[in-house]
Amino acid sequence: ALAIWHQLTKYEISELAKPTVSIRERGRVEEIIRNMHRAGPGALQVISDFDMTLTRFAHNGVRCPTTHNILHNSTLISEDCKTKMANLLSTYYPIEIDDSMSVEEKLPLMVEWWTCAHDLLVKQKIKKDELAQAVRESDAMLREGYDVFFHTLKQHLIPLLIFSAGVGDILEEVIRHNGVFHPNVRVISNYMDFDERGVCQAFKGQLIHTFNKREGAMLNHDQFRELQDRPNVLLLGDSLGDLTMADGVTNAQNVLRIGYLNDKVEDRREAYVSSFDIVLEKDESLDVPNAILTYIT
Ligand code: C5P
Ligand code: MG
Repeated sequence: ALAIWHQLTKYEISELAKPTVSIRERGRVEEIIRNMHRAGPGALQVISDFDMTLTRFAHNGVRCPTTHNILHNSTLISEDCKTKMANLLSTYYPIEIDDSMSVEEKLPLMVEWWTCAHDLLVKQKIKKDELAQAVRESDAMLREGYDVFFHTLKQHLIPLLIFSAGVGDILEEVIRHNGVFHPNVRVISNYMDFDERGVCQAFKGQLIHTFNKREGAMLNHDQFRELQDRPNVLLLGDSLGDLTMADGVTNAQNVLRIGYLNDKVEDRREAYVSSFDIVLEKDESLDVPNAILTYIT
């Protein structure tokens, strides 16, 4: 009789029994997954972060680039700009992932980081038709199993909303380049504004950074409207800021939040395990989300 308990997460979805997986409340996670299975793919939507969630954090021990870093490493920007962007990264990234600072303390600093980085990028007169090449020449990599992930969602007509504080134009090139920019994929991100000659002259709309995704979700409610009839949400992220990405789904019934814990694992484990339903430590694959999707669909 004991085997009934946690059967789903220990045996039926065997990926969830791996030592790299932490689950605070197995009973609750099982109930959510069973509800999602019962309601089927027609009631499901996926909302995912991009950088370091759909893309890899590292490959063969080397860090993989974010969408901002793809530009930063490309030939499209000057050496002087590279130095300045690198300085920004080494100043602000440690703040972004600092577990001893509150979100309120981080907020103004994140706005500062993104604003400075975007100002620098705008000065570089980046051309729209050069972005594809920058992505082709970059080391950006989607996580292992990305093909199964995108294909499963496409096949079952499950909408995928990618919600990213990165650079939308680069993000789109990455998924296009990997052949997975399917019709069920929508993106909310920071997009470049190109003039009539195709030169980037600004960034469009309200800035999205790591810790204002809730506001981003509220401002983009049109994107969410077509998703209101899908009350079950699988959410994927790598930052505590990603936890609010589903707040635009007003009638959500079952929300399963999966968090990739990539960096400063020891320091942040407790916070991640108490905030995400499922935490994946140093896992460069989409195996766990794929196994859950297979069970639901
Ligand atoms: O897609 P996602 O929301 O994860 O994109 C944001 C990530 O991009 C942040 O986690 C941050 O570390 C990174 N970033 C960067 N360079 C910047 C601004 C943000 O690499 N100038
Ligand atoms: Mg991320």
